[in-house]
Amino acid sequence: MSPLSHASLAAEYGFNFDEILDRRASDSVKWNMDWIADDMLSMFLADQDFRSSPAIIEALQLRAAQGTFGYSLPDPALKPAIAAWLQHEQDWAVAPEQIIMQSGVNSAYEMACQMLLTAGDGVLVQTPLYGPILAAAARAGRQLQEAPLALVREGTLVRYEVDLDALRAAITPESKLLLLCNPHNPTGEVFSRADLEQIGEICLEHDLILISDEIHAPVLLGGAEHIPIASIAPAISQRTITLQSPSKAFNLPGLACSFAVVQDDDLRAQYEAFQGERLPHVNAFGLAAALAAYRDSADWLAANLAYLTENRDFTYDFLIDCLPQMRLTRPAGTYLQWLDFGWLPLAEGSTPQQFFAEEGRVSLSGGWFGAGDEGFVRLTFATPRAILQDGLERMRAAVERLLAG
Ligand SMILES: Cc1ncc(COP(=O)(O)O)c(C=O)c1O
Repeated sequence: MSPLSHASLAAEYGFNFDEILDRRASDSVKWNMDWIADDMLSMFLADQDFRSSPAIIEALQLRAAQGTFGYSLPDPALKPAIAAWLQHEQDWAVAPEQIIMQSGVNSAYEMACQMLLTAGDGVLVQTPLYGPILAAAARAGRQLQEAPLALVREGTLVRYEVDLDALRAAITPESKLLLLCNPHNPTGEVFSRADLEQIGEICLEHDLILISDEIHAPVLLGGAEHIPIASIAPAISQRTITLQSPSKAFNLPGLACSFAVVQDDDLRAQYEAFQGERLPHVNAFGLAAALAAYRDSADWLAANLAYLTENRDFTYDFLIDCLPQMRLTRPAGTYLQWLDFGWLPLAEGSTPQQFFAEEGRVSLSGGWFGAGDEGFVRLTFATPRAILQDGLERMRAAVERLLAG
């Protein structure tokens, strides 16, 4: 098959985010896990149901057409393209040589924790939080130090604020590292400069190293701004490992390619050596896709973010309109919405996640975000509007049946 050109793909598919793809035909974790029955809709995983950017599809076709798939280095244009992206999108000056290409973000922070911590060291996290970060921190540090985010309720809106007092209170002499997640999964909060400055101050005061998981950085809704914590001040950058990736924004998680920015020379040398000895070479297709993402897909991303912003508002308005008890987030970043169903009169021992899977035939995420996740479920709205609406209607009908007794 000769590779299709970027232009012909764009003409053929446009950026049609309403197109319904048969994801069950692609051996997808989101749609094909054995507990997602055929009659269920899947909204549990941070994975988009849209066709990728035409530039990415073209780059992958060209890479496949080469016909050789040995261990691969990044194209010489990749790190400069990422550095240009960070400068342009995040106002962050990073030299290409401060960027380390790597496989996924989860394995990167897992390794970074192993590298930096010895048993008994304390790892600070802000809960509720994406489960694998909690698990990695607990494995490596043995002492998970949870500093809850402050839950704020404003009418029907749920939002979270950084609780600096809680963060300070969680710090002990054993505290060694803060694992930050920004934009934050599952709350979708995008932390402000003021918050990041204060978090940075605390890290300096207590000599904490920072691992900043910024995998959702480009997924900004309604004009939100992402500020990498390492860009706040050189003193912060010197103690920070930042993890970003094209995977969430450009819908490439199956290609397992991300990058770390480490601006301190000694820390970078240590990180590169430690990771290099333990992690696989980066996937050749992931590297090709990353270049096409950062260099050639800005128009796709802009259209994608506009669609996602509408989906966020659609979800919010739909649930508020039909369920008067409903409280939920309206996230500034990520395509994850955090829904408070703590008010449902569920049977003893049943969770909202189980209820919606069994009674609504919708798979949502819940029960693995640590302290503060009780009663909440996380919904991924990166899906065509028709599927989203179907899922929300199923949820509404399940709740109405439950309330009707
Ligand atoms: C905050 C966060 N970090 C890491 C990951 C996983 O990244 P990867 O697939 O690159 O390991 C996810 C996936 O949803 C995520 O939301």
